[in-house]
Amino acid sequence: MILPIRTLGDPVLRAPAKPVTSFDRRLRRLVEDMLETMYDAPGVGLAAPQVGVSLRVFTFDDGETGPMAVVNPELVDPSGELLEEEGCLSIPGPFHPVARARRVTCRGADPTGRPVELRGEGLLARIFQHETDHLDGRLYIDRLDEEGRRRVLAELRRIELGLEPSRERTR
Ligand code: NI
Repeated sequence: MILPIRTLGDPVLRAPAKPVTSFDRRLRRLVEDMLETMYDAPGVGLAAPQVGVSLRVFTFDDGETGPMAVVNPELVDPSGELLEEEGCLSIPGPFHPVARARRVTCRGADPTGRPVELRGEGLLARIFQHETDHLDGRLYIDRLDEEGRRRVLAELRRIELGLEPSRERTR
């Protein structure tokens, strides 16, 4: 089932999400719905708060991994730095360069509770960091300097006023 995606201004995006404690059918259903919603958007990553569920889960597909989900993710061993354009399904339209670690390891569990450990580089590392931020109530615009944040919000206003078409390929 495709779920509505919450956008900037919705308080659920700013609340720290709760750890998952039951690896049950409801969780697997949530993950299925999130994957369907993510591919429909289309996006390369989606965190549960973006569909109004304040739980520590995200789904992703960087184009190589296929559909995947991480529950209760923890990021360790960040290294390097990469400045690349980033967007967010909850901030539809604008993209802006964001500095992220080039490589990072994501530890957590799959939806059945089995431990997973994934080393990400480039786009995959960026997805891990962007989605884990969502679970902490943080958005990519929080990582921009004042000028960057101002530009993103100005573009958002132009889109809302219908002066600019929104772009795609978001997470
Ligand atoms: Ni996002």
